[in-house]
Amino acid sequence: MRIDILSLFPEMFEGVFQSSILKKAYDANAFQYNFINFRDYTDNKHNKVDDYPYGGGAGMVLKPQPIFDAVDHVKKDTKTKPRVVLMCPQGETFTQKKAEELATEDHLIFICGHYEGYDERIRTELVTDEVSIGDYVLTGGELGAMVVIDSVVRLLPGVLGNEKSAVQDSFSTGLLEHPHYTRPADFRGLKVPDVLLSGNHAHIEEWRKKEALKRTFLRRRDLLQELELTDQEKEWIKEWKND
Ligand code: ADE
Repeated sequence: MRIDILSLFPEMFEGVFQSSILKKAYDANAFQYNFINFRDYTDNKHNKVDDYPYGGGAGMVLKPQPIFDAVDHVKKDTKTKPRVVLMCPQGETFTQKKAEELATEDHLIFICGHYEGYDERIRTELVTDEVSIGDYVLTGGELGAMVVIDSVVRLLPGVLGNEKSAVQDSFSTGLLEHPHYTRPADFRGLKVPDVLLSGNHAHIEEWRKKEALKRTFLRRRDLLQELELTDQEKEWIKEWKND
C-alpha cells in the first residue's frame, strides 16, 4: 500500500511512524508513505495556503489551488486510482469496518487541514471519503490521519505476526473482546476463572463467547443491534437484564 499525506506539519507523524508496528511494517515493505507539504504547491508570492471566507465571518479557509495541485502531482506518478480521504469532524465516523475497507486499497491520499475550514470545492471535486475520528474537534486532521493509518496498516497482510489477533479483535467480531488473564493464577488473592485453567478448550471457547457478549451488553448495547443472536444468547441477555 502507498500512502500520501498532505499536511503542513509532517513532523507530527514522526513518533507514530517510527515506532512499534508501523515502523516494522514500513521496514518490511508492507506500506510506503510520503509527506507532501501543500504550502510547496502555492502559486502566490507569500505561499499562502488560506484566505478569508467569502461572505465574511471568523476564521480562515484553506484555498483549493495548493491542495488540488498537490493531489494532481501525487496522482500523476501513479497508475492506481487512489482514495482521497479528507480528515474533518463533519466526515463519517471512523469504524473498524471502514479500516477493513481502506485496507483493501493500493493507494490512499490523506488531506489534513489545520486550524481552519476547507474550501467546499475540495470536498466536492477532489475527495472520495470524508472521515472523522469522533465527535470532537481537533486542531487539525493529522492526529485523525494517524489514527486511521495505524488501524489500516495493522490489517495489511503480514503486519501482525499472529494473523488471528486481528480477526479476534474487539469490533472485528461485532463484539467487544472477552477478558484476558495471564500468570499468576492467583494475584493478591484475585483468582483467574477456573475454566481458563481447566485445559478444556470447548469450555474455554464457550466462556469467552459468553463473556464477550456480556461485556458488549454491559458497555456497548448499541453494537448488539447489528448481530443475529442465538436463542441461548438471548436467554443470557434476559438474565443479565434481570440482574
Ligand atoms: N479534524 C478536526 N477534528 C477532527 C476529527 N474529529 N476527526 C478528523 N479530523 C479532524
